[in-house]
Amino acid sequence: MAKHGVAFILTLALVLGVLAVTPKVVQSIGVCYGVNGNNLPSPSDVVKLYQSKGIDSMRIYFPRSDILQALTGSNIALTMGVANENLSAFASDPSAVANWVKQNVQAYPGVNFRYIAVGNEVESGNTQNVLPAMQNMNSALSAAGLSNIKVSVSVSQKGVLADRYPPSNGTFSPEATSYMTPIAKYLASTGAPLMANVYPYFAYVDKQDQIDIKYALFTSPGTVVQDGGNAYQNLFDASVDTFYSALESAGAGSVPIVVSESGWPSAGGTAASASNAQTYNQNLIKHVGQGTPKRAGRIETYIFAMFNENDKRGDETERHFGLFNPDQSPAYTINF
Ligand SMILES: *[C@@H]1O[C@H](CO)[C@@H](O)[C@H](O)[C@H]1NC(C)=O
Ligand SMILES: *[C@@H]1O[C@H](CO)[C@@H](O)[C@H](O)[C@H]1NC(C)=O
Repeated sequence: MAKHGVAFILTLALVLGVLAVTPKVVQSIGVCYGVNGNNLPSPSDVVKLYQSKGIDSMRIYFPRSDILQALTGSNIALTMGVANENLSAFASDPSAVANWVKQNVQAYPGVNFRYIAVGNEVESGNTQNVLPAMQNMNSALSAAGLSNIKVSVSVSQKGVLADRYPPSNGTFSPEATSYMTPIAKYLASTGAPLMANVYPYFAYVDKQDQIDIKYALFTSPGTVVQDGGNAYQNLFDASVDTFYSALESAGAGSVPIVVSESGWPSAGGTAASASNAQTYNQNLIKHVGQGTPKRAGRIETYIFAMFNENDKRGDETERHFGLFNPDQSPAYTINF
């Protein structure tokens, strides 16, 4: 009896312990740390800010020794990019990749590397380099005993998807199919995800006559798009599931999607306000635990971005995607 009692209490404690930690795991979110600003905090202050907000994953776009140093011992899971300008060298020269791994990965055993993104929104003329560079990266990591780090590439909706509707009709575009189909099949063989930058904001701005902003902001009261048996109440899910359909049509339906960027600007253009950015990002944080109609379960997601970056080029909105101002004050209130 007594023995059973102890076992029961231990089991109960374990069950309660698991229940107690589950919500935090479900809600965890990553944030992209872009560095195109001349007034940003030091990397060690940035790491402290991530930790104080409970942000447990970070994406950076290329290696930087001061950032890697600051992350040492933090346990923040890191997605690190290979810069697009390095892809052609990395496609043709395995030793350049091995050196990169040595200098930027092996040199930081206290950093919790999760993914290497071999390129971000790679443009035509360079896309043929992505797959061989990914293969060289997997070989270099494996030779270094680091094959637990998954190798992927980060792509945009406009860059690789055909403009097709509804989500079940998604395919890669005719221009992207020639390189995305082999990449998708390769990811299926390595068990790595495809990293997708998903912006309902830009889809809404491009098609304001067809898209209700509520569908983009996760505030529609009910189903907006019925696609066979799948009911869509927000554009984020529709966009992620369009990627899943494209992977399926490429014969790589087993590849999971990681959302490597998503966000909403707080100033600088159409529908860009602190209120809309707060609504989008807070709802995104609440939503990612649920998965999409096509794929239940948590969608690993990285918000773009940690800071407003005053040196970013392009449209005015590009400089206003930050959750925080450079002085570390919140751009608007978000609960992580
Ligand atoms: C990557 O590209 C940058 C910019 O062109 C260059 O300075 C750097 O040497 C390259 N790194 C490697 C490892 O090829
Ligand atoms: C799928 O997309 C194509 C191209 O836009 C379109 O012609 C076709 O009608 C779509 N299929 C469905 C079922 O909507």
